Amino acid sequence: MTVDWGHVFAGRVSGMSASEIRELLKLLNRPEIISFAGGIPDPDFFPSSAIAHAYQKVFQSNAGAGSALQYTISEGHTPLREWICTYMGKHGVQAGLDEVLVTSGSQQALDFIGKLLIGPGDLVVVTAPTYLGALQAFSPYEPRYISVPMDEEGPELAALEAALAEKPKFFYLVPDFQNPNGTTVSLARREALLDLCEKHGVPVVEDAAYTELRYDGEPLPPLVGLDAARHGGKPTNVIYCGSFSKTMVPAMRVGWVLATAEVVNRLVLMKQAADLHASTINQIILHDVVSQIFDSHVKTLRSHYKERRDAMLAALAEYAPPGVTWTKPQGGMFVWLELPEHVDGTQLLERAIKEANVAFVPGSAFFADRSGKNTIRMSFSATSPERIREGVRRICELLKRV
Ligand SMILES: Cc1ncc(COP(=O)(O)O)c(C=O)c1O
Repeated sequence: MTVDWGHVFAGRVSGMSASEIRELLKLLNRPEIISFAGGIPDPDFFPSSAIAHAYQKVFQSNAGAGSALQYTISEGHTPLREWICTYMGKHGVQAGLDEVLVTSGSQQALDFIGKLLIGPGDLVVVTAPTYLGALQAFSPYEPRYISVPMDEEGPELAALEAALAEKPKFFYLVPDFQNPNGTTVSLARREALLDLCEKHGVPVVEDAAYTELRYDGEPLPPLVGLDAARHGGKPTNVIYCGSFSKTMVPAMRVGWVLATAEVVNRLVLMKQAADLHASTINQIILHDVVSQIFDSHVKTLRSHYKERRDAMLAALAEYAPPGVTWTKPQGGMFVWLELPEHVDGTQLLERAIKEANVAFVPGSAFFADRSGKNTIRMSFSATSPERIREGVRRICELLKRV
């Protein structure tokens, strides 16, 4: 008798299905397609020579190679955690080594947070829209989502307060240049949402994947720093997720969680159960590279990506038909378009690929309730300014036809 796999899968995975856009996005390898779909860094800007040099150093001695290729502790490579503590200190958080866990990308941190905090049917508050990967990480733990709408300053407070009154397990958000809509939460809104979460005793999960990629305006303190300022400089109500994927390279799969030791202790147990530890050699290499070039490299990235952000905004201003509006992000990788009510982002993508050789991600994927049908996300990070201009022109021509 052959196995009926559908019957054997655990109940909690029944809601997990392949996204309808995946088939369409498979077409993106064709060179003639200008893709704004992936939210990925441009490989041309990877610090490849610094990485190569760091590898050479590791393999110069047998002892160095031996420890880099060995198992390590689950908490993470100690010099890297020390670097992270110093970095977070600049953002107003006095964290000790026992308050930091290195994870295999910040995506793994989101999975562990879901595992730690969500039981079947528990409420989780997210913004509308939110990071699709967070929904994918949390959903196997079977939460019910409450989506809080956003304005240009961040989550709307009245809706947030109503959501918090339902006693959710946590509030997840991306305060800087959010994936997908590019919105940055204002300072006043940061303080206000921390007030509300503290009043209701609800933890905040802060995803800082894009924080370093700011092109205009003054950097804002992270929620974890504002929260620490209220609690003697220590992380208290906020769980902070950091990543080296957007500032250095995604392939190393190195990110971190910073939270109270009580939370981190539990997360360390999850790390042991999941994969024992993040790759030893990658942590060693990354520590070497960030110690040498973090600030200068991020500065270079900012100037390249700023040029691309500006190219996308200028092309939209020139070509977009009436009825289309878009965000003007101060950083990150994404511009978010709101289309006239009758335009469906998924149908538009199908036509955009076939008729205009251009791609993006339909916005409804980023809503826990699958609303936002007339929105799309366009990433400018991995496309040259010239191709951005041409791609935006093609999408806008198509929009005029629909
Ligand atoms: C908002 C956000 N959080 C987390 C991640 C995961 O990043 P990584 O696991 O590479 O650190 C991403 C990746 O695109 C992201 O956009």
